[in-house]
Amino acid sequence: MSSTTPLIVLVLQLLLLLIASADSSRVTVGDSATMMTGCPGNCGGVGIPYPFGIGAGCFRKGFEIICNEDAPFLAGSGSRLIPVSDLSIDPSEARVMLPIGWQCFNSSDQVDNYRDPNVDFNRNGMYRISDTRNHLVVLGCNTLAYVGSQRRPGVVDNDYDHESYTGCLCYCNDSSSAISGHCDGVGCCQVDIPPDITDNTVSFDGCYSHARNLNFSPCDYAFLVEKNNYTFSTADLRMDKNRTMPVRLDWAIRDNLTCSQARKTAPQLGGYACVSDNSDCHDSTNGLGYVCKCNSGYVGNPYLPNGCVVNTDIDECQLPELYTCFGDCRNTPGSYECRCPKGSSHSADPYSERCTQNFPLPAQIVVGVTGGLFIAAVFVFIALLRREKRKTKEFFKMNGDPILEKVNNIKLYKKEDLKPIMKNANVIGKGGFGEVYKGHIGDSNQLVAVKKPINVNFAKKDQFANEVIIQSRVIHKNIVKLIGCCLEVDIPILVYEFVSKGSLEDVLHGSNRVPLNLDQRLHIAAESAEGLAYMHSKTSTTILHGDVKPANILLNDDLLPKISDFGISRLLAMDNDHTMSIIGDMSYMDPVYFQTGLLTDKSDVYSFGVILLELITRKKASHSDNHSLLRNFLDAYTSGKTVTEFVDEEIAATNDLELLVNLAGMVVQCLNLNVDQRPDMTDIAERLHYMAKRARSN
Ligand SMILES: *[C@@H]1O[C@H](CO)[C@@H](O)[C@H](O)[C@H]1NC(C)=O
Ligand SMILES: *[C@@H]1O[C@H](CO)[C@@H](O)[C@H](O)[C@H]1NC(C)=O
Ligand SMILES: *[C@@H]1O[C@H](CO)[C@@H](O)[C@H](O)[C@H]1NC(C)=O
Ligand SMILES: *[C@@H]1O[C@H](CO)[C@@H](O)[C@H](O)[C@H]1NC(C)=O
Ligand SMILES: *[C@@H]1O[C@H](CO)[C@@H](O)[C@H](O)[C@H]1NC(C)=O
Repeated sequence: MSSTTPLIVLVLQLLLLLIASADSSRVTVGDSATMMTGCPGNCGGVGIPYPFGIGAGCFRKGFEIICNEDAPFLAGSGSRLIPVSDLSIDPSEARVMLPIGWQCFNSSDQVDNYRDPNVDFNRNGMYRISDTRNHLVVLGCNTLAYVGSQRRPGVVDNDYDHESYTGCLCYCNDSSSAISGHCDGVGCCQVDIPPDITDNTVSFDGCYSHARNLNFSPCDYAFLVEKNNYTFSTADLRMDKNRTMPVRLDWAIRDNLTCSQARKTAPQLGGYACVSDNSDCHDSTNGLGYVCKCNSGYVGNPYLPNGCVVNTDIDECQLPELYTCFGDCRNTPGSYECRCPKGSSHSADPYSERCTQNFPLPAQIVVGVTGGLFIAAVFVFIALLRREKRKTKEFFKMNGDPILEKVNNIKLYKKEDLKPIMKNANVIGKGGFGEVYKGHIGDSNQLVAVKKPINVNFAKKDQFANEVIIQSRVIHKNIVKLIGCCLEVDIPILVYEFVSKGSLEDVLHGSNRVPLNLDQRLHIAAESAEGLAYMHSKTSTTILHGDVKPANILLNDDLLPKISDFGISRLLAMDNDHTMSIIGDMSYMDPVYFQTGLLTDKSDVYSFGVILLELITRKKASHSDNHSLLRNFLDAYTSGKTVTEFVDEEIAATNDLELLVNLAGMVVQCLNLNVDQRPDMTDIAERLHYMAKRARSN
């Protein structure tokens, strides 16, 4: 830019100034034509627009401002000065600081000091407390305070001489009732006010006892305050009594005239106030009176002759040397807009940089279409991602995450962690419960079994979560360890330690069938019993299994049994009615439980009895053949027949027949239909360990 620029600006400004001053000698021209010539237009940074003014001849009657040590004030009663922080013409408002009202009580619950905050800021009646910009706030612990609007004409010295009253009541039960930030009737109340309030007098109602709260709230306070300025603090129950509050005043020309009456008189300074051409009168919305406004298209001060000026400005676009624009220029009131033309790419700043021309239309179309498609694809992708995330979160919540999240001894797996394992090639078991997969999670070399339940009516999520927590805390050599779970799916997936040799079912009757001597069988029985006993009585809450069967007893390479699916299978069987839908294997199920639906530790004992019988006989107990194994065995036992004919020939050759008889006796005890007569698991485990020891020493 050339060095002549400042000169051009200066000349231009001078020119404008000359044109404007030629218009009117009474108006100084600046940003706005608002003050009388020769009158100070500003005090302490606060603009003083006419009808306000400082000094004789500078203000309309009633609008005197006193500039005292560079701060503006309204003149109140006596020599009182009311600080002003803002004066404006549109809206017709003045912002002043007003004192607060208070009353204090002495130890005999009497008002011994008070202050009416009225400072008579409205000596000439031009102001009303703005009903839209202020409200009444009352502080105290047993008090009612109110403000009154305009006095009723002709009514003097009457208790109820105002047109309307507005107030609110505060109460606190004790010193801790009031809460900072809450002005809701406890220690603090606030209420909107009606229009036509002419002063800041507040009144307290005297009939409320303060005896109970003198020690923490010895005074009551009431004040008008600009909305959003005051926030209650409990410390304000002992507020500084000299504090002042900002209040917005609506001012107007109040000659007891409405606009329609006022317009009939000729405009003149001190008379009809809307003296400027292109201005008009508007009735005050707060009290009798009117205000003036420049007509639309004009700005300035309607209270001064020629105060309203056409709202035009320099057409910056006609002065490109001064107002640079490298794009399309458009003039706006007070400014201009500069945009890159269509078909050119947006440069960072067309006010100072050239807009670069875009490539040809066909290319634009191609880019536009592909770009559009790409953006659409991104949006769809994001939407899908969001949905998936939300779904995941919902499942997580549904499956009891708030509880499980807090548990740190169980791992919460992500769906992706488990996905690689859950493929058909890894299936090692399938059943009513669901599918079981074997594999490694991530880089870990620990083998895990991943259980994915299917078709489960899964209603008791929290209980499930609790059960999972309990399970995760159980560390016992005869219980399959629950390592973690995944809750991000509709049905939780459980991750267990992998147990190498498969189930007792397989080892006894199925694919992994191996020879087993009495010693080994007693070992399996004793250790299984120990696991059950531990869960029944050694844990803080009794954990019942509910589906004890050979398929749920897993064996490691040392034939050490580990019981799986504790509690969980039972819970998963629970439906919405909280009743058990009995899915346990009927071949092992306690008939008492089947009848009552009430699962007890003795139900597990019954099932264990059946397993014990299978261990002795190496025959499968079956429900479908009408429990013939059990029936025949029990019949034989009760009729005093020898039980050896039932015993698997692999162990029948033992020389400790008494041991076999004891074992048979234990089976019978476990299967007793009188639940109370069944031994408990701890007892069974002890006796089996004893028998196992005896078998080994033989
Ligand atoms: C409390 O104030 C009342 C009214 O001013 C007075 O009569 C009373 O004596 C005062 N009581 C005490 C204890 O100062
Ligand atoms: C009210 O105050 C009394 C006495 O200070 C106290 O015993 C009671 O608990 C308070 N009641 C409530 C609801 O705060
Ligand atoms: C309230 O008004 C006072 C006085 O003008 C001012 O200093 C203060 O910042 C205001 N507070 C809020 C929250 O507006
Ligand atoms: C409050 O104002 C009065 C009178 O101006 C004065 O005497 C008193 O010291 C002031 N109190 C405080 C706490 O400023
Ligand atoms: C307006 O009228 C009231 C009573 O009607 C009177 O007291 C007051 O002086 C009048 N004000 C003006 C400015 O005429």
